[in-house]
Amino acid sequence: MARRILIDTDPGIDDSMAILSALRSPELEVIGLSTVFGNADVDSCAMNGLRLVELEGHNNIPVAKGAGAPLFREDLDLGTQVHGLDGMGNTRPSPPRGTLDPRFGAQFILDMVKQYPGEVTLVPLGPLTNIALALQQDPGITDQVKEVVLMGGCAFGTGNISPVAEANIFHDAHAAEIVFRANWDVTMVGLDVTTKIIVRPADLDKMYTANNPAVDLLHRIQPCYQAFHDQIYGLNGAFHLHDPSVTAFLISPDLFTYIEAPIYVETSGLCAGKTIADVHWQWGDRKPVKIVVDADAKAVINLLIQRLSQ
Ligand code: BDR
Ligand code: CA
Repeated sequence: MARRILIDTDPGIDDSMAILSALRSPELEVIGLSTVFGNADVDSCAMNGLRLVELEGHNNIPVAKGAGAPLFREDLDLGTQVHGLDGMGNTRPSPPRGTLDPRFGAQFILDMVKQYPGEVTLVPLGPLTNIALALQQDPGITDQVKEVVLMGGCAFGTGNISPVAEANIFHDAHAAEIVFRANWDVTMVGLDVTTKIIVRPADLDKMYTANNPAVDLLHRIQPCYQAFHDQIYGLNGAFHLHDPSVTAFLISPDLFTYIEAPIYVETSGLCAGKTIADVHWQWGDRKPVKIVVDADAKAVINLLIQRLSQ
C-alpha cells in the first residue's frame, strides 16, 4: 500500500519540485496539502498549492490555508528574494480553477490524521507553525500520527539564513521547539544532507527535455532559484535540493544515512533558529530525532529526475 502523506508546505520553488515528484510517485499517496507562510505570504503559498495539484490533474486533493505568521514573533520575514514575490519565481502564474478547503491548516491536519489513525506521515517543508498549532490544539495527535519527516534545521553545519540557522526553523523557532519536544517519531532532513544534494545544469537540461506540465512549470520557475544560489554560493546554475530530498527519502530511505539524537531549538537572540543535537544525551529524556546526515546524492537526483520526467 502507498504511504499516506500530508504535506505542510510554503510553495516555493523547491517545494514545487518536492510536491510534483511526490504526486508522480506510486509509493506515496498525497492525502492533502496544508500551507504556511515562509517562502512567500500564505495566500500566495496556498494558491500555489492549488495550482500544483491541479497541474497534475489531482483536483480531488484538498489544499487548506494555514498560518500567515509565526506563533510569537511579530516581524514577518519571507523568502521572496529566493522564491519570488509570488513564490513561483516571479512568473505570475494564472489563478487556480478550484477553491481552498474551508478548514484552517491546523484543523485540517487534525481532521486528516483522525480520518486515518496511525497511518499518516506528516511532511513539513516550511516553517512548523501549522504543526505546532495542531499539537497545541490536540496534544494526543502524537499517538495518531505515524511519523513526521521534515525539511529543516542543521545539526552540524552552518545555517542558510543566519550563520547558525536554517530558514524553515528560523522563521518560527518557537513552533520548531514545540515540534521537536513532542513525543513522536521525527526525521530531520536538514542542511546537513540537503546541501550535499546539488542538482547541476546538465541534470536539469536532461529533465527539461521531458514534455509534461510538471517539468514545464519547473523550467519556468527555477531560474529565480538558480540566480539566488549563484549569488550566494557561486554554484553556476546548480542548486541545493532541499525539499525534494524529503520526497526522495520517503520513496527510498536506503539512499540516506542518519544518526539519532534529541534536538533542541534556540528561540531567541543571535542564535535564534539554531537546532542543537544533544549528541551526548545530557539534556534530558526528550525523544531522539533521526538526523539525516548523508546520502547517495547522485542516486537521489536521478530518482527525482526520473519521477519528474516520466
Ligand atoms: C528551506 O527554506 C525554503 O527556502 C525552502 O523551500 C526549504 O524548505 C531550505 O532552507
Ligand atoms: Ca519549503
